[in-house]
Amino acid sequence: MPQPRPDAERGPQRSTSPEPLPFERPVPKPDPATTREELRAADPLPQPDAVDVAPVEIGPTGRPMPTFPDPPAIETHGPARVISMCNQKGGVGKTTTTINLGAAMAEMGRKVLLVDFDPQGSLSVGLGLNPHEMDFTIYNLLMERDVTVHDVIVPSGVPGMDLLPSNIDLSAAEVQLVHEVAREQTLQRMLRPALAEYDVILIDCQPSLGLLTVNALTASDGVIVPLECEYFALRGVALLKTTLDKVSERLNPDLVVDGVLGTMYDGRTLHSREVMERLVQAWGDKVFHTVIRRTVKFSDATVAGEPITNYASSSAGAGSYRQLAKEVLDRCHGG
Ligand SMILES: Nc1ncnc2c1ncn2[C@@H]1O[C@H](COP(=O)(O)OP(=O)(O)O)[C@@H](O)[C@H]1O
Ligand SMILES: [Mg+2]
Repeated sequence: MPQPRPDAERGPQRSTSPEPLPFERPVPKPDPATTREELRAADPLPQPDAVDVAPVEIGPTGRPMPTFPDPPAIETHGPARVISMCNQKGGVGKTTTTINLGAAMAEMGRKVLLVDFDPQGSLSVGLGLNPHEMDFTIYNLLMERDVTVHDVIVPSGVPGMDLLPSNIDLSAAEVQLVHEVAREQTLQRMLRPALAEYDVILIDCQPSLGLLTVNALTASDGVIVPLECEYFALRGVALLKTTLDKVSERLNPDLVVDGVLGTMYDGRTLHSREVMERLVQAWGDKVFHTVIRRTVKFSDATVAGEPITNYASSSAGAGSYRQLAKEVLDRCHGG
């Protein structure tokens, strides 16, 4: 019996030509005598000093870092852009971002109203208020028909920035609101009289996706999602996206994600840098170029009851929130 030819055994796609296929050809070895300098001399490329372009700085998100313009000065105030800080995970920097982004925008001449929409009242405490010594809180605003937003607004201690304070009473509102007509629009209705006086209203959401957070999202033009730069931060983001989609479909079609903010970033660890990379893969250009580095100065400022922009004005943390303020105002057309 004749033996099959080895070529036939390998199948019809295999060439029988003695000529090697492209991938079979030996790769020419570079001549070891060819140095980089010799190659350059043979085929000169434009050298960096010959090109009239500044070197591109790669930012912590792995993308080229743009320069954000100083926000234009404004003569008159309002109508406000309402932005919620939202993530159902606790301890990711929602309250810290609300206080410090607000204070940085106030430094830039914007009139800012902060809304403490977490029954834990951390925003109010972080601005030096005593939760037991408040005449009115946002609870009264939501639940009592004769209380207006102007009855509840208090100065924050930072020029140009006011606060709607809250304390544990707000947890009862979540239960009581369930029985109201148009329960998801309650905060939106209550904030309406303040829109004309402020340039930015920042709502500090509680760490849940319950009715209070849905109220905040319904009242908002934009959302900022702070995310801690660690692996578990990425869990739960799908649920948050679903909630945002539901609110835009059913309650607030104009809601947009203003940006995703990496917080507690530590550039010395590969881990932080990888999480940033994953964030950019998942959210693309929505990820702010500004990231907030991990520093104990934030906790110190909270204890002092002040934004970091006051407590440690020349610190890197204060600088990051000033840069974030410029980036947000740039994205939102000057606020
Ligand atoms: N960039 C940061 N570096 C270090 N600690 C931070 C940073 N941002 C916030 N913190 C601290 O982490 C804790 C949780 O932050 P917080 O803003 O209250 O989160 P959330 O409002 O999402 O629960 C606080 O003690 C705060 O001082
Ligand atoms: Mg908080």
